[in-house]
Amino acid sequence: MNTDQYRSLDRRHLWHPYSRHSAMRDTAFPVMVRGEGVYLFDSDGRRYLDAISSWWACNLGHSHPRLVKALTGQAQRLQHSILGNLSHPGAIELAARLAELFPDRRRRVFFSGDGASAVEAALKIAVQYWHNLGRPERRGFVSLENAYHGDTLGAVSVGYVPEFHAPFQPLLFPVFRAEAPCCGTCARNLRPAHRLWPDTCAQEPGYADQATPERYAQARALRPGGCVASMADILAKHAAEIAAVIVEPMCQAAAGMRIYAPACLAKMAALCRKHDVLLIADEIAMGFGRTGRMFAFEHAGIDPDIVCLGKGLAGGYLPMSATIVREALYATFADNKVDHTFYHGHTFAGNPVAAAVALETLRIYDEDRIVEHAREAGERFQEALKPIRSLSGVRDVRGLGLLAAVELAESKGQSGPERARRMAAWLLQQGVLIRPLGSVVYLMPPLITPVPVLDQLACQVQAAIAESVD
Ligand SMILES: Cc1ncc(COP(=O)(O)O)c(C=O)c1O
Repeated sequence: MNTDQYRSLDRRHLWHPYSRHSAMRDTAFPVMVRGEGVYLFDSDGRRYLDAISSWWACNLGHSHPRLVKALTGQAQRLQHSILGNLSHPGAIELAARLAELFPDRRRRVFFSGDGASAVEAALKIAVQYWHNLGRPERRGFVSLENAYHGDTLGAVSVGYVPEFHAPFQPLLFPVFRAEAPCCGTCARNLRPAHRLWPDTCAQEPGYADQATPERYAQARALRPGGCVASMADILAKHAAEIAAVIVEPMCQAAAGMRIYAPACLAKMAALCRKHDVLLIADEIAMGFGRTGRMFAFEHAGIDPDIVCLGKGLAGGYLPMSATIVREALYATFADNKVDHTFYHGHTFAGNPVAAAVALETLRIYDEDRIVEHAREAGERFQEALKPIRSLSGVRDVRGLGLLAAVELAESKGQSGPERARRMAAWLLQQGVLIRPLGSVVYLMPPLITPVPVLDQLACQVQAAIAESVD
């Protein structure tokens, strides 16, 4: 089939996720047929830098020979076997390997398929944990404003995005919404206390001396106690009815890569401890090195009760996710005396082929020092993007590890989202694949992207910004 034939069949039969009809009808969208390293190739042989790691999953790029070998080798031995009252080596080894990545290794791993499924499992585990302890009234959740945790109904309840989820609003369970910290475009107009942003926050003790008295007073008046104050209020009033707080550590991704300081995350974790509420860290987007640490929660020196992983877990090769809980939590699900079993699971949980690829992915992370590369290359990438800050029509440039975001303002009568869409179309012509979130153009290239390619990407984005106002 040639490209036109593909497009015509596609327009007749395929339903694309998160895609307007008009986008597929009115554009000559590429049809990707092959991937290699950090590039995708379309049916006309054109090459594109995958600057979004194919929805943030392909951290090791495409067609990695070792991952392909792991995948085909396992498919030849055992392609599927269930985990209900059975086991298999891949799931066993992977669970043990994942547990080793945590500060406290006494962890249990519950496998699912997509990220949203890992979040659903986390929410249900939190509720049943309190039920098992004889406290069924503790079944509420606190989540952050602007949060996104996936598209199944439980995940939508805690991560409601009005533009996406309004039709389902009547079906969702109520959730306490806490104000979300965001240091890049801080609601209080505060700036980081230190140039090594985002490791410090203008709200931190000690900053008061450096800030102008007016700015500090203004900030205190807006919300005394800093940007986690609303969560503190909610927990002080309602902890007795709350099972867990759920957060995207360090960065609210789908909300437009809203990065916040580790101090905020540490404070939220401390509040959970103080009020004896579970903390669920949704690492589905930020886990596996994206922020320059294996897990984003490491920036805050915390060890959350429940951690959700997905996307990059199986290298972006196969859908696989995991909900990883403390052993003490798991222990409450025993069936002696009373049956407290967790009756929840998916057909393909812990699939052997996905597990084999995930194990090989983690070996490559170790041997090729992937997280260190993400951190070091990330620092250089952020430097290369700095000149963009001073361009007109740019509201903010922020980043962490190998994640960067440029927030566009309205310019010459064009809204931020319009300019972002123009940038995406122009970059696609230049062979760079991005997918803006409203007025935010973000870059999440594979963690293996060579530094010269990152330098070039920074230049291309700079050029695209100029294009978008012409
Ligand atoms: C933080 C976060 N949680 C959960 C999800 C849902 O993952 P999935 O699309 O695999 O269901 C996403 C997807 O982007 C995400 O960014």
